[in-house]
Parts: sequence; C-alpha cells; structure tokens
Amino acid sequence: MNGHAMNTFGQMVERGHERVCFHYDEETGLRAIVAIHSTKLGNALGGTRRWHYATEADALYDVLRLSEGMTYKAAAADLPMGGGKSVILLPKPGYRPSEAEARAMGRFVDTFNGAYIAAEDVGVDPQYVDWMAKETRHVMGGETISTGGDPSPYTARGTVYAMRACLAHLGRPTSFDGLTIAVQGVGHVGHYLVSMLVEEGAKVIVSDIDRERVERAVDEFGVTAASPEEIITAECDILAPCALGGVISANTARKLRCRIVAGAANNMLDDPDEDAVVLRNQGILYAPDFVANAGGLIRLAGLYLGMTEAQIDRKIAGIEDTLAQVLRDAESAPSTYVAATALAKQRIARGSRSDKEQVHAG
Ligand code: NAI
Repeated sequence: MNGHAMNTFGQMVERGHERVCFHYDEETGLRAIVAIHSTKLGNALGGTRRWHYATEADALYDVLRLSEGMTYKAAAADLPMGGGKSVILLPKPGYRPSEAEARAMGRFVDTFNGAYIAAEDVGVDPQYVDWMAKETRHVMGGETISTGGDPSPYTARGTVYAMRACLAHLGRPTSFDGLTIAVQGVGHVGHYLVSMLVEEGAKVIVSDIDRERVERAVDEFGVTAASPEEIITAECDILAPCALGGVISANTARKLRCRIVAGAANNMLDDPDEDAVVLRNQGILYAPDFVANAGGLIRLAGLYLGMTEAQIDRKIAGIEDTLAQVLRDAESAPSTYVAATALAKQRIARGSRSDKEQVHAG
C-alpha cells in the first residue's frame, strides 16, 4: 500500500465517502484519521487501526479503502449499519500504545456523536478500546467499560462458514477432514481459525512474521510451519490470508497452488477488480473478504443493535448462505468480488435506516 497520492477529494468522490476528518492532539502527539464512507443504512461501525505508514497518503488510502469495505461488509451481512474506519499514524513501527493516546483517540471519536463507532483493528485490543471508552460511549469491543470483547473468535467462526460455502459450491464435502489449509498470519483471528480447523480434522500449515506466534500455534495445535515467503504459494486446498491487506496481486494470483482463497484479512486483493478475475481464470474460487470476515462485525453490531447472543450466532452462521448466494450470482458476473459488491450495493440502494436513533455523518 505504498506510494499513493493524497488527492483527498478525488478519492472521496471516486469511492463515495461522506466524511473524512483529520485530527492532531497536541498533548499526546496523536495523529489520526476517521473516514465515514456511508451512513445510508445506519451509523458507521468500524475498527481503529494503529500502524506506521510510510506516508500520510498511504494512511489516507488505507482508511478510505477499509471504510468503504465496512459499508459493503455491513450491507452484505444485512445489518442496518453504515461503514467507517479510523487509523492512527504511528511515529515509528511498533510504537507502544498508551492510555493517554487511546483517550485522545476516544475524544476524537466522541466528536462524531455516534455517527462513527470505533472498535478493534490491527494494533488495538479490548484494553485499548476500554481506554477510549473513558472518553466516549461510541466504542464497541472492550471488556470493562464498553462491551463486546475481542471480536476475533467470531470473525474466525464466520470464516469457517465461508470456507464451507466454497466447498459446497465446488460440490465437495463440507467437512474439513483431510483438507490442507494454509493460514497466513496467526494473530488474533488466525490463531482462533487454526484451532477451529484442527478441531475439524484439517491439516493446517501456518506462517507469521512473528516467530513466537508461529511457535505458539505449532506447540498448541501440532500444525506445520512455513516461512512467510512460502505460505502464499503453498500447495493446499484452501489458502486463508489472515494477516494484512494486499497480499494477492495479479502476479501472485498466478502462482497460487490452492483451489479456494477464503480468509479474514481485509482487502486481501491488491486490486480486487483485476485480481478477482485473474483468480477465476486460474480456476481458484475466491470468497470475497468482506463477506467471509463479517463475523466480528456481526457480533459487535449485533450487541450495539440489541440482538441476543442466539440471534447473533444465527446471523454469523448466515455467512454460509450469503456466500453461497454470491458464488451462484458470480456465475453470471465477471468475478465473485463483483457479485458480492453488487449484492451489498443493492441492499444499500433498497435499504432504509433502522428505527434506532441515528446521527447522519454528512
Ligand atoms: P493481528 O494483528 O492480531 O494478526 C495479524 C498477524 O499477521 C500478526 O501476527 C502479524 O505478525 C502477521 N503478519 C503480518 N504480516 C505478515 C506476513 N507477511 N506473513 C505472515 N504473517 C504476517 O490482526 P487480526 O485481528 O488477527 O486481523 C487479521 C486480519 O483480519 C487483518 O487484515 C484484519 O483487518 C482482518 N480482520 C480482523 C477482524 C477481527 O475480528 N480481528 C475482523 C475482520 C477482519
């Protein structure tokens, strides 16, 4: 995601963003961006990412792309929620989180009066969310002050349902017994995913740039480790990218040796319009990420909307049916990505905001 131009309004117009706000907090040095892509279906729920970006333009590109994805994720999951996301621009890689920084971010989030609701993303955990919650009630995913906890196990579970839909679409048994699954990234989601797949009898290969995380997965689940360079092209039934975005480009797509790509990473395709077509031409079935990884959003949005745990569980299980529909629709579309985006856009065009109190972002 390096080397993007700033061109803020041009990108907003192209992607259809309602609102993008930059914030600098003098006391803590916090530099953050909140992007609200759409509030057409409801308030915009989406995580806060802490990351060291090479340039401000890269941070802007990331937050715009991620927030747009949240709109489609909520709509595809049939949730009355919009799409938003925020990024914190770290001064250097691995910059440690602090309560002061999180509270400054919480004050920024509070200025949106609920049109944007923050949660976890890469670099942000439930403790960080609870620190933000000291300054705003518009956060989800904490454990003490705000509610919901870590959404990762729910994201992992949803990804398993997505894998089942892919197997069924190919006319294969939907049991994982004997399948080889390569998981790139054994962080929050990846670790839970590996545990579920091993439980279901899959042979799992893992990789992470963090050696300790690989060792933890190997020790706990007896899985095989591969290097970060090998994992993407490992020979397997399913490749599950669960690290960062942009890991599959047209070039890497041609080198994959899997039958299915289904994982949790947001924006796993570098250029989804082009790369999803290359995957199809390679005979690889791609589960669009924003459909496959909606479990965590469904859990937090479900709690926010007052759903019961049973209703939330049913909706996460519904990812299997939603994806099955997308895969069927894709037979008469250029790619599964186009079919998934079309489903989301139809729901946005048709849908109206729920009865719940909403604040428009515009
Ligand atoms: P995380 O930060 O806990 O885990 C990501 C892992 O990927 C880390 O262990 C990191 O060392 C590893 N990694 C980074 N680059 C790598 C590379 N080149 N090769 C191998 N490993 C690499 O993040 P989390 O929460 O597990 O999220 C993973 C992905 O899923 C992200 O793209 C996130 O946006 C997405 N996602 C997460 C959700 C959640 O509930 N946590 C919900 C929906 C999407």
